[in-house]
Amino acid sequence: MYKPSWKVGVLFSKTGPLAVIEETQLRGTLLAINEINEQGGIKGRPIKPVYYDPASDASAFGQYAKRMMVEDGVKTIFGCYSSSSRKSVVPVVERLNGLLWYPTVYEGFEFSTNVIYTGAAPNQNCVELCNFLMQHFGNRFYFVGTDYVYPRVSNRIVRDFVTSNGGKVVGEKYVKLTAQHHDYSPIMRDIKNVKPDVIFSTVVGKSTADFYQSYADFGLDPKLMPIASLTTTEAEIKAMGTDVGEGHITAAPYFEGIDNKASLAFTKRYKKRYGNEPTNTCVETAYFQVHMFAEALKKANSLCTDRLRANVLGIDYEAPQGNVSINLSHGHADVWTRVGRANRSGLFDVLYASNSAVVADPYLLSYGAKREFA
Ligand code: ACM
Repeated sequence: MYKPSWKVGVLFSKTGPLAVIEETQLRGTLLAINEINEQGGIKGRPIKPVYYDPASDASAFGQYAKRMMVEDGVKTIFGCYSSSSRKSVVPVVERLNGLLWYPTVYEGFEFSTNVIYTGAAPNQNCVELCNFLMQHFGNRFYFVGTDYVYPRVSNRIVRDFVTSNGGKVVGEKYVKLTAQHHDYSPIMRDIKNVKPDVIFSTVVGKSTADFYQSYADFGLDPKLMPIASLTTTEAEIKAMGTDVGEGHITAAPYFEGIDNKASLAFTKRYKKRYGNEPTNTCVETAYFQVHMFAEALKKANSLCTDRLRANVLGIDYEAPQGNVSINLSHGHADVWTRVGRANRSGLFDVLYASNSAVVADPYLLSYGAKREFA
């Protein structure tokens, strides 16, 4: 007998300045959907993705989310990289009672009963990254970011940590999303002049390659003054060239090469489908959240947001990064903290790893500004 499919929305850009990372999230999402369908779907029904390309335009995310929900009959949406795109979709899913699954590191300080947040919140990466940088490089930080909500709020948080632990922010510069190599020259000149101990980057997308290339062209040395980031993954390192990326630092829940069964199986399947492309934290999160959704859907047997969400809260899953779970009280994932340094082959050597998933604390309630680092 004919069994109708479970229709879900997928919103990641294949074009525009954020495609370098969003396209990998699209791949992770489709890989997981494909795996579930190959195993017979959920209750014998396949998952069917409805996809639009928002072309890295934040407002297009909101418009397509609305179209999916009003015209295509979608209730659950996997999507969004930038916090601006998430902020464009949230009012839509709130008004129409949908569920957005958001698989990206973000700045925290948000809660919606219509969102499941599966990327890292600031307490799951910034805190340990600052700790690590201050121990190994020094406490004079220079911020460079793309000009939108994620970098602005992340820098406010990092500034609090740095200054309350005896450090200083010696520069803070923003560039547009489409910034090119030459846009970074005045910043590099200022960095050479100010001589910080570390650069904290919240630059995102295609422009990340221009930023790191400009740094290299100005003769700066990552062994002495690395760029540290939460958004420079294996995908951006590949785009800039592995020689340019070598020595720089990133904090993320997952890096390719983590030695466990789920991680090895994931990279094998990803490369079988997409060729010799590196995986990264964003594709891993996009991938595991679909599998989590499938577990919840099995129990709910419904895409109705209220029924589905009730089965998502508290769920856990053996993800490539390790065991992760969705926090009962606020719908953020408890994920791992890792700090890695890019090597010559474009992958990250892990220099710090938590012993288990770190409880998400999106409002930093347990980290007062005066908290001492370990
Ligand atoms: C981001 O905008 N949350 C990377």
